[in-house]
Amino acid sequence: MKPIAFIRASGSHLPPRVVDNHELSQSLDTSHEWIVRRTGIVKRHIAENHDTTSGLATIAAQKALDNAKISAHDIDLVVLATSSPDHGFPATAARVQAELGISKGTAFDVQAACAGFIFALQAANNMIRLGQASRALVIGSEIFSRLVDWQDRSTCILFGDGAGAVVLDSEYVEDTSFPSLKRGIVECTTRVDGTGYHKLFARSGLGDLHANSDIHKHGVFMNGASIFKAASSLMAEGVSSLINKHQIHIQDIDILIPHQANLRIITSMASSVGIPEKNIVVTVDKHANTSAASIPLAIDHAFNQKQLKKGQNVIITALGGGIAWGSALIKT
Ligand code: UT7
Repeated sequence: MKPIAFIRASGSHLPPRVVDNHELSQSLDTSHEWIVRRTGIVKRHIAENHDTTSGLATIAAQKALDNAKISAHDIDLVVLATSSPDHGFPATAARVQAELGISKGTAFDVQAACAGFIFALQAANNMIRLGQASRALVIGSEIFSRLVDWQDRSTCILFGDGAGAVVLDSEYVEDTSFPSLKRGIVECTTRVDGTGYHKLFARSGLGDLHANSDIHKHGVFMNGASIFKAASSLMAEGVSSLINKHQIHIQDIDILIPHQANLRIITSMASSVGIPEKNIVVTVDKHANTSAASIPLAIDHAFNQKQLKKGQNVIITALGGGIAWGSALIKT
């Protein structure tokens, strides 16, 4: 018998303040029509000054624990994906762990930009499969509104704030291969091509050569067209390689949950893999791009809407700065 990890429940939290495209167009040279036509985004949630990335994460994680009907004391691993941590150190996961009243096990952050949740899920899944943890919280939490330059219309309109979390539980099974697995994370794969580093980055780090100059302190730089192409093709490739490896057809996938950056990327990727639009979870219209929080927010949204149910074959896939990307095949 071997341990496997399965998603027991999810939770999410969005800061209450909603900023729609009309509000943005009052201070920026943009319009609701342009943003909807080019991205599908209608509105986004924006954190208040008193909000913290750990605070959003803690609320999402507590909701996931409540939905899982387990106590925080049963958690022995917290993995948090973020590009907007509370502090340079220690890990935001440590603060979340403390806020939840957990003092056992281990906790750490993962930084893989918009693909961060899949990297975090991979780490937690591997630790559970190795017997190093038994119940994990995997969280994506971001306050991107503090990273973007609100004067730069080509990037600031794209992002939003929020947090999502899943509780991973474990069980022992005879056969961990896909057809026999009743539920669980079948496989989680991640990739990085660092040659694309400068195509998408936040100027908020302290280690870069220009970190002391004001011009480098704020803002997200993105080569939009290049990232658009990479996201459409590499997410599609990730989905195809998972289904090929596990010898299933795209028709066997009940739900696809892609990173929510741009509706045009989602539809282009969906048409190249041949999955019907009704089987795709879309939240980008409501949440915009919440980076590492986008997939767990979409998972929780889909569970709440009953689009995602127990016993389904699900693929999640994401791409972000790095360039980092990843996909996972999950039986819910
Ligand atoms: O999560 C990580 C992954 N991120 C992504 O996947 C984002 C990928 N990229 C994209 O989604 C798209 O490239 C954008 C939405 C960022 C841009 O869309 P686009 O259709 O590629 O627009 P563009 O950059 O080619 O710009 C077209 C025009 C430009 O004007 P000119 O030079 O043609 O006169 C821009 O200045 O649109 C202009 N523009 C805007 N106009 C109104 C750029 N931003 C805006 C804006 N409002 N907010």
